[in-house]
Amino acid sequence: MNLENKQIVLGITGGIAAYKAPNLVRLLRTAGAQVRVVLTETAKQFVTPLSLQAVSGEPVPETAMEHIDLARWADAVLIAPASAHCLARLAHGLADDVLSALVLATQAPVMVAPAMNRIMWQQDATQTNVSLLRSRGVHVLPVAEGAQACGDIGPGRMLEPADIAASVPSLFAPQLLAGKRVLITAGPTLEAIDPVRFISNPSSGKMGYALAQMAQQMGAEVTLISGPTAISPPMQVTSHFVTTALEMYDKVMTHIAGQDIFIAAAAVGDYRMKAPAGEKIKKSADTMTLDLIKNPDILKTVANMPQRPMCIGFAAETQDVIANGKQKLLAKNIDMICANDVSQKDIGFDAEDNQLTLITKNDLIEIKKTSKLSCAKEILEVICDSKVSASDLSCL
Ligand code: C5P
Repeated sequence: MNLENKQIVLGITGGIAAYKAPNLVRLLRTAGAQVRVVLTETAKQFVTPLSLQAVSGEPVPETAMEHIDLARWADAVLIAPASAHCLARLAHGLADDVLSALVLATQAPVMVAPAMNRIMWQQDATQTNVSLLRSRGVHVLPVAEGAQACGDIGPGRMLEPADIAASVPSLFAPQLLAGKRVLITAGPTLEAIDPVRFISNPSSGKMGYALAQMAQQMGAEVTLISGPTAISPPMQVTSHFVTTALEMYDKVMTHIAGQDIFIAAAAVGDYRMKAPAGEKIKKSADTMTLDLIKNPDILKTVANMPQRPMCIGFAAETQDVIANGKQKLLAKNIDMICANDVSQKDIGFDAEDNQLTLITKNDLIEIKKTSKLSCAKEILEVICDSKVSASDLSCL
């Protein structure tokens, strides 16, 4: 997450979640941002200007006159927590305190992380304000669900600071995929042998989730179809969870219509049990043979549809990476394959980093070893750059 040299005004409004704001400041600064904090009067009852001055390393403005300077200084304005009252003020263009005046006076992008009681959140008045703000280009983050300070349980909790901080870079990402729909598969699939055993692979889902996060940050409407993983899906992405290759196939077929780009990053099991045992198989003979049957190739099926999106696949290889990748590109009739050498332990399967060769019909593009999020950015930039075969680029 890179916020290097970004100047962010963090507005804090009155709500119990304000106690998390110092942590948010710390995370934004760790990502490289310079942070200046503005508190509303009610926020000061939950968290003190002095503690925010300490964590931000910047003075907290006391006078209403500073709003114009701060409005100009800001590369982005983030309000977290944003109370129901704050959303109403912003929706109606009020300017009777430093924070609301600053939002009215800035040309920087504005992001809000709402936090309130579940009934206040679901109230028509609040939802209408949220829609109005969204229609004006304000980035309204989702709320989390769970136990609330007031004792209720439901939607309205502020997102955790780490999730808010992870969303801020999207304010600066070039909106190369605005208006595009992207479907991504990720993670492993898992095929039952019997009720307690299965066949799977070490895919962590990290590459597919990074692509989903980055595509969303670049403005796409993203649908993620994931096998079982230990990681959380990115926010503001519609996620569906499946277990087997057949379930993944069905989910993809349900969602493929109208997609502009299909990225198959999942490590789909090539075979499944012909007939999984209904009861646990008892240990007896020294050897055992499993009767397996081939799974449908999801990517190939999509790539051979008459009305198909641009199709991108992955090729995890242990030898002849480029030759095998090229062969897969042609065999599946896809536009680009991202090939990697999974014999190297520090890249690919379950690693934090990846190193890829992007293979198209006419080009080879190397992505040097870097984080999976940076790889995702480069892959999506190549896709948007139309370096990929033009035959199916009508969408871009
Ligand atoms: O043929 P192979 O499994 O090596 O191809 C890998 C690529 O094909 C990946 O993009 C993977 O997501 C996709 N694939 C698929 N359905 C399968 C097998 C692979 O979509 N059954």
